Amino acid sequence: MPLRFAVLVGSLRKGSHNAAIARALPGLAPDGVTIERLGSVGDFPLYDFDAQQESGFPPAVLAMGEAIRAADGIIFVTPEYNHSVPGVLKNAIDWLSRLPHQPFAGKKAAIQSSSPGLFGGLRAQLHLRHMFVFLDVRALNKPEVIIPQVHQKIDADGELTDPATRGFLADQLKALAAFVRG
Ligand code: FNR
Repeated sequence: MPLRFAVLVGSLRKGSHNAAIARALPGLAPDGVTIERLGSVGDFPLYDFDAQQESGFPPAVLAMGEAIRAADGIIFVTPEYNHSVPGVLKNAIDWLSRLPHQPFAGKKAAIQSSSPGLFGGLRAQLHLRHMFVFLDVRALNKPEVIIPQVHQKIDADGELTDPATRGFLADQLKALAAFVRG
């Protein structure tokens, strides 16, 4: 059975290391798996319950909700900000979680994080897993993908070149496919 994975990136930065990781994923996917990036979380306004009630859901939120529903698996690729997820990612999750037929419910997901520091965004992963409980996301537990000193693993053209990291990513994609196929 062919599978489609959707990738949600938690950085808006033009030169984002995490976006570079996300760009490498389609080329590392196992046979029978296609991987596409979801829209930018930067297209979402700041969540405001009043605005939601008065104007409904913004088109970017509706479109991402549909794309998540249509995907067989979700891959979160995110930096860590202040030992948690960046506000832009939390904001996107907050909007998406209010959609009717909450799109994350029951979805299987993998997490990847990277940082120029030594901890590779590990603490953001833990906070994401905490949110997954309420969102009813089924997280892939192993293998974990935590990428420290990421700036040394991406070349001047923004390509992920580190062979070991590419190997970890490929292994996790294979594991997510097996998890989704059950
Ligand atoms: C950071 N950074 C950071 N790094 C880390 O390992 N742990 C942290 O808690 C934080 N906190 C943090 C807060 C804020 C507000 C900023 C702007 C940055 C550094 C961060 O990992 C680095 O900027 C990455 O390059 C961001 O990821 P992208 O944009 O390259 O994908």
